[in-house]
Amino acid sequence: MKIASLVGARPQFIKEAILNARIAETGAWNHVLINSGQHYDAGMASIFFDELHLPKPDFSLGVGSGSHAETTAQVMLGMEKILLAEKPDALLVYGDTNTTLGGALAAAKIHVPIIHVEAGIRMLPETMPEEINRRLTDRLSSLLFCCSDLGRQNLAAEGIRRGVETSGDIMLDLYRKMTPHFDEAGQLRKYSLTENSYIVATLHRDYNVDDPQKLSAILQGLEQIRRKLGKRILLPLHPRTRKRIADAGLEKALANFDITEPLGYMELQALTRKADFVITDSGGLQKEAYYSGKRSVVVMPDTGWRELTDSGWNLLAAPEPESLLAASEAISTPCEMPHNCYGDGRAADVIIEAIRQKFQ
Ligand code: UD1
Repeated sequence: MKIASLVGARPQFIKEAILNARIAETGAWNHVLINSGQHYDAGMASIFFDELHLPKPDFSLGVGSGSHAETTAQVMLGMEKILLAEKPDALLVYGDTNTTLGGALAAAKIHVPIIHVEAGIRMLPETMPEEINRRLTDRLSSLLFCCSDLGRQNLAAEGIRRGVETSGDIMLDLYRKMTPHFDEAGQLRKYSLTENSYIVATLHRDYNVDDPQKLSAILQGLEQIRRKLGKRILLPLHPRTRKRIADAGLEKALANFDITEPLGYMELQALTRKADFVITDSGGLQKEAYYSGKRSVVVMPDTGWRELTDSGWNLLAAPEPESLLAASEAISTPCEMPHNCYGDGRAADVIIEAIRQKFQ
């Protein structure tokens, strides 16, 4: 049995790392790894291969950055050739990026079955590129792995019932595996921080950073939070956000923050574990903060991780100073942590077993 797996963006390297390791440990199948190259800076790509011991990809498409159509089309063109030559039993894709959709479209047209890990997430706005990518990928997939029952319900509401499994979150598998290796003390020293004296903030969504007014409002909000709560703001800058800040001439708004390059997995987890709380528009970090017992202010109109907002653990905030400050103050009040929202950290085994049963 041969399964091809497609990665290309930061969160996909993380998810592949744990599944890849389990496939190697169990000798589950002949695994072909393809990297689209959607993310290519060292801090966005190679760092994850190094620190999470991902093997060198069998194929690299080198698509780089471009418009949505350019990226998706480049992935399709590259993937069609590889799939025709390699003839895998199925193509596995993760999440909701342009790489995910490009791979799924190429595979579907030449009748290669698609396996979608992190299926069934739905969130507004429907026009968000990731929402388009995940809906279409789910529609094309024949095996769909959801992090929770909510994903299964979302799929059922759209008539997708066959091949759906609740596997739990594969990112929890990795988090548990890596927990003994997080160097919190070393990271606090590196950035001259102390426990609970800072907030980890990350921003990269197009609707938050591409509009200069919204971007400026979010940075103003972070500054008000810094002053009012007396916390430092640790802000690793995604390259997209760094560019938009430069284009909008907003560099001065960063003056009081602790700015870093994008952080690797090990650094970000270690720093999140010692933060007071998190402010983010990253889907992955919302969950990782929860695994660290930390709460998040989510700068999004909606989230796919509803278990965390419905329980009051995470709070949604609008990209406006008042809303960000109000949520950050509210998050300092006590809240009971919801338990086991995304499985028990054995998603990789569930995924491997279901794939074996279907394709062997
Ligand atoms: C993409 C995914 C998003 C995911 C995120 C994780 C899509 C539509 N979105 O968003 O779901 O949460 O990855 O980070 O696929 N850039 C660099 N160097 C890099 C990568 C990007 O400079 O290594 C810059 C380029 O200017 C690029 C921009 O960042 O145009 C945006 O990159 P892109 O991959 O299109 O989207 P992300 O915002 O990273």
